[in-house]
This record gives sequence, structure tokens and C-alpha cells, in this order.
Amino acid sequence: MSVTVRVPAKVNVQLAVGAARPDGFHDLANVFLAVGLYDEVTVTPADELRVTCEGPDADQVPLDVTNLAARAAIALAERRGIDPAVHLHIAKDIPVAGGMAGGSADGAGALLACDALWGANASREELLDICAQLGSDVPFSLVGGAALGTGRGEKLRALEVGGTFHWVFAMAGRGLSTPAVFREFDRLGEGADIPAPVASEPLLDALAKGDPDALAAAVSNDLQPAALSLFPELADTLAAGRAAGALTALVSGSGPTTAFLARDAESAAAVAETLRSSGMCRAVRTASGPAPGATVVRAAGA
Ligand code: C5P
Repeated sequence: MSVTVRVPAKVNVQLAVGAARPDGFHDLANVFLAVGLYDEVTVTPADELRVTCEGPDADQVPLDVTNLAARAAIALAERRGIDPAVHLHIAKDIPVAGGMAGGSADGAGALLACDALWGANASREELLDICAQLGSDVPFSLVGGAALGTGRGEKLRALEVGGTFHWVFAMAGRGLSTPAVFREFDRLGEGADIPAPVASEPLLDALAKGDPDALAAAVSNDLQPAALSLFPELADTLAAGRAAGALTALVSGSGPTTAFLARDAESAAAVAETLRSSGMCRAVRTASGPAPGATVVRAAGA
């Protein structure tokens, strides 16, 4: 018996960040859009918990219990009082440490796959609760589509999206650690009065209308100055994408993946081609959103 779950990457079309809280986290107004770049997590019974990974970034993925897929299996098994003796295999297409929730995707995928394999019958509410315990972005990886995340990003409200948005993603030569980017945000903002984060009404409206020009005018990422401070070359990639015809360019989440919104699929392909031939990025991909959340795509008998 094995179960395979497919889980999308995300881009943050708005990431408004408040001041650091006493627990070290930051309150966010985080508008997530799931996009069609996917990891697949396959779970199979085994003698003991183990994780394997394939894909271009596989050598950067931890295979121990720090992997969110392993932590998800352990969290569900603990709640059911069973042994998490499974082999979790990750077919990884989402960049590692890229600001696209690749690790979170594997956590949500493993959780849904283990739930199906073990017949654990967790409710949506329990799954979301475990996801929130695993990490701030993990609940969104489960639900997909588009959503506003508040709190540390884990409290979700589904958003209406009136069309398909076409994106280009440029993967950088190295990763950025999310905690390091938040620390840099704190350092850059030291002494400043940081307002409480609020979702942008024009942005929510642009999503609801499916209007790429309006969305391009409204996107924002408060972590972008921090990501650029730690990785200054990203500014050149953003400029190159804009010059190639993207409607807008921004750092995805905590980066260093850069995201370019295009008017349509044809324009996205042209921007991608220009970025590819610039030699500035490790890899360039196109993907559209919204994409569905974690979904069981295969369940094979013994
Ligand atoms: O929740 P998650 O484990 O994904 O967060 C990783 C790190 O990102 C946290 O340890 C924290 O440093 C930072 N973070 C934050 N505020 C948030 C979400 C994440 O400071 N809302």
C-alpha cells in the first residue's frame, strides 16, 4: 500500500510584516497564492521512519527528523498513539530555501498521505491544527488556492480569485534562511515605528477580478529590503525581469526566488526565455496560479 500526495508552491502577493512579537514571531498580513510547481510526497509502510528525496535540489534536503515531512508523520502518529513507521519519499520540484514554501509543502503532503495510509480520518480542522504546529506556512500548503494569512500566517481566510495569473520564477544560486531574513528585517527597522500589518484592499480586489495589471500595481513584500540586503544581486534579476516585459517583479516570501507577474502565458514564456539566457539565475520556471492545495493523486494497494 502506498499513497502519493501532490502539493503546490506558493508566492506571496502581499507580505506585510509587523514588529517582532515577544515570542520572536512577527504578525503578518500574508496574501498567499498557490502556483503550479509541485512536490510529491509518497508514503509507504516501513520498519522505521525514514525520508528520501529526489530532484535537482535533493542534496540540500535534510533527511532526518528536522524534515517537516518526518515531523508531520510523527505529529499525527503521536495523536493516534501509533508508531510512525513509514518511508516518506519526496519528489522535489519546489526550490529548497527559496521562499516558495517547499518545506511546508512536504509537511502538508506527508500529513495528508499518512492520514490516508493509516485511515486516521483526521478532520480538516485537526489537519490544519497539526499544520499550524509544524510551521506558519504549512496550513496554506494544505488548502492552496489563495488565502489571507494573519497571526504568524497560520490563520487563514480563503480568498476569491477571478482568473489565472501567469508567473515566472527565477531560482537563485544559493538559499536564504527565513529566520535570518526576519532578523535582518528587525535590524533594518530598529528604532522605527512599524505599523500593524493590514491586507491591501486594492490587492484583494485585483485578485477577485483576476486583473493582472491591477495585481501588479498592488503587490508588496516587506521582507524584500531584508532579502536584498542579504543577497544584493537579486536586485539585478528583478530589474532584468522588468526590462524583459514583466508587469512587476518581487522577491517571493523571504527569498531568494524572484517572482515575475506576466500579462499572459505567452508573455511569461518570453520573460522566462530572457531570464534564462541572461545566465543570472540557477533555473527559471513558469507556473500559473491559483493551484489546488495538497491532493491525493495515487493510492496503490499492496
Ligand atoms: O513558522 P516557521 O517555522 O516556518 O518560521 C520560521 C522562522 O521564520 C521562525 O523561526 C521565525 O524566525 C520566522 N518567522 C517570523 N514570523 C512569522 C513567521 C516566521 O518571525 N510570522
